[in-house]
Amino acid sequence: PNEPPLVFHWLPIIGSTITYGMDPPAFFRENRAKFGDVFTFVLLGKKTTVAVGPSGNDFILNGKLKDVNAEEIYTVLTTPVFGRDVVYDCPNAKLMEQKKFMKIALTTEAFRSYVPIISSEVQSYFKKDADFKGKSGVVDIPLKMAEITIFTASHALQGSAVRRKFDTSLAALYHDLDMGFTPINFMLHWAPLPWNRKRDHAQRTVAKIYMDTIKERRAEGDSNKELDMMKHLMNSSYKDGTPVPDHEVAHMLIALLMAGQHSSSSTGSWIMLRLAQNPHILEELYEEQVKALGADLPPLAYEDLAKLPLNQAVVKETLRLHAPIHSIMRAVKQPMAVPGTKYVIPTSHTLLSAPGVSATDPLYFPNPDMWDPHRWEPNAVNAPTIVQSSADEEKIDYGYGLVSKGAASPYLPFGAGRHRCIGEHFANVQLQTIVAEVVRLFKVSNVDGGNTLIGTDYASLFSRPLEPAKIRWERRD
Ligand code: HEM
Repeated sequence: PNEPPLVFHWLPIIGSTITYGMDPPAFFRENRAKFGDVFTFVLLGKKTTVAVGPSGNDFILNGKLKDVNAEEIYTVLTTPVFGRDVVYDCPNAKLMEQKKFMKIALTTEAFRSYVPIISSEVQSYFKKDADFKGKSGVVDIPLKMAEITIFTASHALQGSAVRRKFDTSLAALYHDLDMGFTPINFMLHWAPLPWNRKRDHAQRTVAKIYMDTIKERRAEGDSNKELDMMKHLMNSSYKDGTPVPDHEVAHMLIALLMAGQHSSSSTGSWIMLRLAQNPHILEELYEEQVKALGADLPPLAYEDLAKLPLNQAVVKETLRLHAPIHSIMRAVKQPMAVPGTKYVIPTSHTLLSAPGVSATDPLYFPNPDMWDPHRWEPNAVNAPTIVQSSADEEKIDYGYGLVSKGAASPYLPFGAGRHRCIGEHFANVQLQTIVAEVVRLFKVSNVDGGNTLIGTDYASLFSRPLEPAKIRWERRD
C-alpha cells in the first residue's frame, strides 16, 4: 500500500528493462520528473526501487547491514570471475577485513613508488605502439586506454613479474574473464555457454599464475623491494590470526584489477575524448605543468600531482559526467521506511542507487551538462552550489578505516558507506599521471575538428564510450 509509484510498462518480466538498459541516466531523469526522487520499475521481473538525490544516496549507500545487502545481488556475476572466499563470496565482516588489507597497502610511500612506474609505462607504450608512429594520426582511444590502464595498474599493484606476463598470457586471459561481466549473466551466469566456459578456465589459470608468483616471491624473501599489493596481501592476517591463504590473495588480486580496470580505463577514455572536444583545456594543462614544474618538465613525482589543480579537476569533472558505475544495487532484507516520505520498501524489492543523478542536477551544479573542469576552482562561474568542507563531513568506520558518509554530498562517483571504493586514491594517481604524460607528448582533437562527443555504451556492467571512439593526435614537437 505504501510502495513508491511504479513506472508503467506493457510487458510483465521485461517491464522497463529495455528503456532503462538503453540509457539509464535518461530513464532516471524522466521518471524523477514524473514521480519525484523515489520510484519503482520492473527490471528482469524484479521490482527495483530507485532513490535519488543526496537523501536517496544516503538511504541506500549508508543502509544498515540488517536492512541492505550487496553480495546477494553481485555474487552470481563476481564469484565466477574473482574466485571463491573473497569480496561477495564471504560474509560482509570478512570483506571489511579484506578492504582494510587493500587500503593499508596504499600508503604514501607506495604511491611515491607508483608514479614513476606509471609514467614509464605510459612513455614506453607511446614509443612502442604501432598506431603512434610518426607525427600525427587517428586512433580508437578506448582500445589504447584499456591497454595503458592494465599495464600501469598491474605493474604498480601486482609487481614487475606479473606485469611482464601481460605481454604474453595474461592479456588474453583477462579478456576471457571480462566476458563474465556481461549483464546477461545476471540470468545466465550458471549456463554452460562458451563464454562462461572460457571465463571459468581463465579464472583458474590466472589464479594459478598468481599463486605460483606468490610462492616464487616467498622464496625470494625480502630481496624484492617492490611496494605492491601482492606483497602486502601475502603478509596480511585476519583478526583471528589466520594468515590470508594464497588462493584468497590471488582472488583479491583478480578482483582489484577487474574493479580498477573497467572504471579507470573508461574514465581515461572519456578524459581523452573531452580533451579532443576541448583542445584549449589541453593547452592549459600543458601550461600548468610548465609553470608549476619548470619548462624542462622533469620526471613526474607523486608530490607534483598536488601542484597541478587543473589536471586534478579534469579527472574530477570527467567522473561527474561519466561515472562508470551508473547503478548500485542492494537486496532489501527488512521492510525499509524511506525517511521524509510515506513509502515503505518491502523485502521483495531491490534498491538501486544512482549518484550520477545528483551529480548532474542543476540544483547543485550550474550548467550541469557542461564539461567544465574550472568549476572546481574557488569562485568559479559554475562552482557547485553546495560546497562542504571535508572537515564538516561525517566520517564513519565500517572496519576498513574512516570513510566519509557522503550523506550530504551530491557528488559520489566512488560510492559511500560500507561498500565505498578503496581504489579512489589509486585511480586518481593513475589517471592524473596518465593525463600529465599524454599532455607532455601530444595535442588531441576531434577527427572532424568539431566539438561533438560520442554517446555512451551502457550495455556492459560499467558504462563507457561507444566504439569506435576515434580522436586525432599530433606530436607536440
Ligand atoms: C567500490 C567506483 C577504481 C576497488 C566502488 C564503488 C564505486 C566505485 C561506485 C561502490 C560500489 C557499491 O557500493 O556497490 C570506482 C571508480 C573508479 C574506481 C569510479 C575509477 C575511476 C577502483 C580501483 C580499485 C577499486 C582502481 C582497486 C585498486 C574497489 C573495491 C570496492 C570498490 C575493492 C569495494 C566493493 C565493496 O565493498 O562492495 N568503486 N572505483 N576501485 N572499488 Fe572502486
